[in-house]
Amino acid sequence: MGPTFFSIIYKKIVKPIFFLFDAESVHNLVSFLGELMGKSVTATITLEKLFGKKHPSLKQKIVGIDFESPVGLAAGFDYEAKLTQILPSLGFGFNTVGTITNLAYGGNPRPMLGRLPKSKSLMVNKGFKNKGARWTTGELSKLDFKIPLGISIGKSNFQEVATQKTAIEDILKAYSVFEKSNIKNAYYEINISCPNLSGRVTFYPPDKLDELLTGTDGLRLKKPLFVKMPIDKKDKEVLAMLDVIAKHNVKGVIFGNVQTNRSDPTLDPSEVAKFKHGNFSGKPTEKRSNELIALSYKNYGKKLVIVGCGGVFSAQDAYKKIKLGASLIQLITGLIYEGPLLVSDINKKLPDLLKKDGFKNISDAIGKD
Ligand SMILES: Cc1cc2nc3c(=O)[nH]c(=O)nc-3n(C[C@H](O)[C@H](O)[C@H](O)COP(=O)(O)O)c2cc1C
Repeated sequence: MGPTFFSIIYKKIVKPIFFLFDAESVHNLVSFLGELMGKSVTATITLEKLFGKKHPSLKQKIVGIDFESPVGLAAGFDYEAKLTQILPSLGFGFNTVGTITNLAYGGNPRPMLGRLPKSKSLMVNKGFKNKGARWTTGELSKLDFKIPLGISIGKSNFQEVATQKTAIEDILKAYSVFEKSNIKNAYYEINISCPNLSGRVTFYPPDKLDELLTGTDGLRLKKPLFVKMPIDKKDKEVLAMLDVIAKHNVKGVIFGNVQTNRSDPTLDPSEVAKFKHGNFSGKPTEKRSNELIALSYKNYGKKLVIVGCGGVFSAQDAYKKIKLGASLIQLITGLIYEGPLLVSDINKKLPDLLKKDGFKNISDAIGKD
C-alpha cells in the first residue's frame, strides 16, 4: 500500500468530510492531531516506515544544510509550531514555522481562511496570526528536529508598527529573540510579501528593502537567511529587488507568496466573489511563481539559492520548478487538495522523473530548462 492508495482514501472520504466544515476549524483540528501524533513514538515510527522513505538521488547539501528531500512545508501552515515532530514521518525534507512576529497577533477579522475548490486555491487572510517570538522560542527550544527547520519572520501586524523605521526595529527584535534562544533551527526566512497587514509598510521600492536588509546584516545571523518574495511585481521590479538582495547577507529567495490579483484568469470569479478580503494560494500562483524562478535563476542563479513555492500539487509540478531553477520546493495548498501524503508521493515519483531525463541527482536537474 503506497501513498496512492491512501491518497484515494483522502480524496474520496476524508476531504469531502473536512470540506463540510469551516476551513479554519479543520486546520485547527489537523494541527492538534498532528501535534498529538508527533508526541507518539508508535505513530511517528509507523508513519516513517510507510511514508518517510527518501531515495538517495534526492539528497542535497545546500548552504551547508543537508536535505534528504527537496520538498518542504511553506510558511503559514504551522504558525504555532505544532507539527515539527510529525512532518519528518510524512516524508518532508524540511519545514517552516511561522510567519512569527515580535508581537503576538490573534489574526485578522474572520474569515481568515477559505476554500476555492474549482480554482484549486485557498483564500488567505490571517495577517500573521501567531503567538509571538518569545512564546514560539519557548516552545521550540524544548525540541530536537530530524529535518531542517526554518523560521519565517515578519512585521508585527499592528497600526503602531506602521513606519519603515518602526517596522525594521520590530523585525530585528524578533530575530534577536530567536538568535538569543537555543533553538536548533537551520535557516531563517524574512517575509516581505504578506499582503494582509495593517499599515502600509511594503519594503518596496528596493531602497526600502536595502534598509531592511542592512538591518538584518547588522545582526550577523548565525543561520542562512532566505527572502520570501512577492509574485505580483513586474520582471523589472523583481530584478531590481534581486539586485539589492544579492548585495546583502542573504543566501536565497523563495518564489513566492500568494496571488493578489483577484481577476487572475486562473481564479473562478464566482468563488472569488465569496470573499471580500484576502489573497489566493495554490494553482493561481503557479504560473507567475514559475516565471520568476526562471527569471531569477537566469540572472542570479550563481549568487542565490532559489526555492520554488506556489501551486505544487504533484511530482511533475515540483520537477518543473526544479528544472526551471529551484533547488528546493515548498508547498501548502497541494496538501489540502491532494492530501498529507502528497510529499511522500513526490519523493517516490521524483527519482523516476530524474532517471528518465538521465540525471543521477536532483542537483543535476536544477535549471536545466
Ligand atoms: C493558509 C495559508 C497561510 C499562509 N501564511 C503565510 C505566512 O504566514 N507567511 C508566508 O511567508 N507565507 C504564507 N502563506 C503563503 C505560502 O507560504 C505560499 O507562499 C503560497 O501559499 C503558495 O504556495 P502553495 O500554492 O503551495 O500554497 C500562506 C499560505 C496559506 C495557504
